Amino acid sequence: MELTLALDHGSSRSLQAQIFEQVRALILDGRLRAGMALPPSRLLAERFGISRNTALIAYERLISEGYAEARGTAGVYVTSIPPDALILIRNARRPDASGPTPEASSEPLLCFAGAPGGGGDRPALDFWVGRSDAASFPLKTWRRIVNRLLSGGSGYLTDYGDPAGLPELRRAIADHLGRARGMTVTEDQIIVTAGGQEALNLVLNLLQSHTRQLCIENPCYLGASMLFSGASLAIHPIPVDEEGIRTDRLPTARGSLLYVTPSHQFPTGVLMTLARRLALLRWAEETDSFIVEDDYDSDFRYDGPPLTSLAGLDRSRRVFYAGTFSKSVGAGLRIGFAATPRLMWDDARLLKARMSNGQSWLEQAALAAFINEGHFDRHLRRLRQVYKPRRDALVAALNEQFDAPRISGADSGLHLAWRLPRGFPSAREVQVLAREVGVGAYALSSGAAFDFTGEAAEDTLVLGYSSLDERQIAAAVSKLRLMLSSTAASIPPFPQSSSGPR
Ligand SMILES: Cc1ncc(COP(=O)(O)O)c(C=O)c1O
Repeated sequence: MELTLALDHGSSRSLQAQIFEQVRALILDGRLRAGMALPPSRLLAERFGISRNTALIAYERLISEGYAEARGTAGVYVTSIPPDALILIRNARRPDASGPTPEASSEPLLCFAGAPGGGGDRPALDFWVGRSDAASFPLKTWRRIVNRLLSGGSGYLTDYGDPAGLPELRRAIADHLGRARGMTVTEDQIIVTAGGQEALNLVLNLLQSHTRQLCIENPCYLGASMLFSGASLAIHPIPVDEEGIRTDRLPTARGSLLYVTPSHQFPTGVLMTLARRLALLRWAEETDSFIVEDDYDSDFRYDGPPLTSLAGLDRSRRVFYAGTFSKSVGAGLRIGFAATPRLMWDDARLLKARMSNGQSWLEQAALAAFINEGHFDRHLRRLRQVYKPRRDALVAALNEQFDAPRISGADSGLHLAWRLPRGFPSAREVQVLAREVGVGAYALSSGAAFDFTGEAAEDTLVLGYSSLDERQIAAAVSKLRLMLSSTAASIPPFPQSSSGPR
């Protein structure tokens, strides 16, 4: 089969990215249909004068994102995404201007404190979720940039800036989203916020007058549940399974605002399948609903290329994107951002002006320089090299110490979820007992996660591995093992497959 691609060999965009994006567009537009074979990588390479490796990398990415599947020696085929989902997306209309009108809420909204008990007395071996590694913070570079900015005079410190955020930072964020998340956004769609939390707050407020009910994945991020619970609207918790949010459980009534974490569901770590993503977009279109995509930790994907965000797939401007630098640079910066459809940006900017009239200039300017001078991409690469061995160490230790542990969410982010086997104490009990032996291990239903139904996963622990090194991780899991085997008779004293805790 012949593919019509327009590859620009002189572009700064890599050839594999161009192939991926163009083939993906052909699939989403319905020009490449489910079951169609893609040309063999060798033919593609010959036809477009590229290396076979380049073609293979592009195909691997299409496969890992669910657009295509490898069928052994038969080749690579377009996956069977429901064709009606594609048609709807292809024909998606822009929301009309008579749609949502923003209006600030007078509700006082809560903030998320971040650590159990206020964070004062953490155990030495602490699997608290989402902490970055303090030793990896690029202090020298940051100090150099800040000194340089300060030596340029104090004018920016004494003046107000654009409430939407420093233009060069918004440009840098928009470029990053294009490169890393497959989004086509410009600086006049970005609002810089005080962390991802304020981005969620902003979107909720922006859409409140249009919203009749709130939908939220369950279990979910505590910060989102706190915002939603304070919003005086009916809340529909929607269950999550191993493919992501159950799209068949979404309300059919019009005017929902849905909160989701498709790239690494918080807290279960599940990656939402492409079919579910497309179903979500179709649902939003059909029910005149909006989606807020919380993409809090997708800079860390260890076993494949970055994934296209839900917002990157959205053709009908239904998805508002909330991002944060809390994981990728540091939570103390308090810098996050919202990416809004262009049509809504002026209102979002006005709302941000009402909420806080903008952000600190110095941190924004430092972050913009950090990104624009290439430090951010280098820093992310370094962090992945730090976190991947930690992830590997945790998965290996759980496998060594426990029999076939059921782990989810290990392929990306900074935490994974471990479903405890039958016969183990409940996750809450494990949390308490672990604390007694100096290990912080958190039940899904405590800490940074929230469960609206009270049913979800009393048997699931959430383990953040980013602030412990490999040795500490192995020691912590050994302690857990010892503690568990001394408390539960059904757990053998030592793992059968290994020589015992070290
Ligand atoms: C799921 C999720 N969303 C959003 C955030 C936002 O964090 P912040 O407000 O620090 O940027 C976090 C932080 O831990 C998170 O875990």
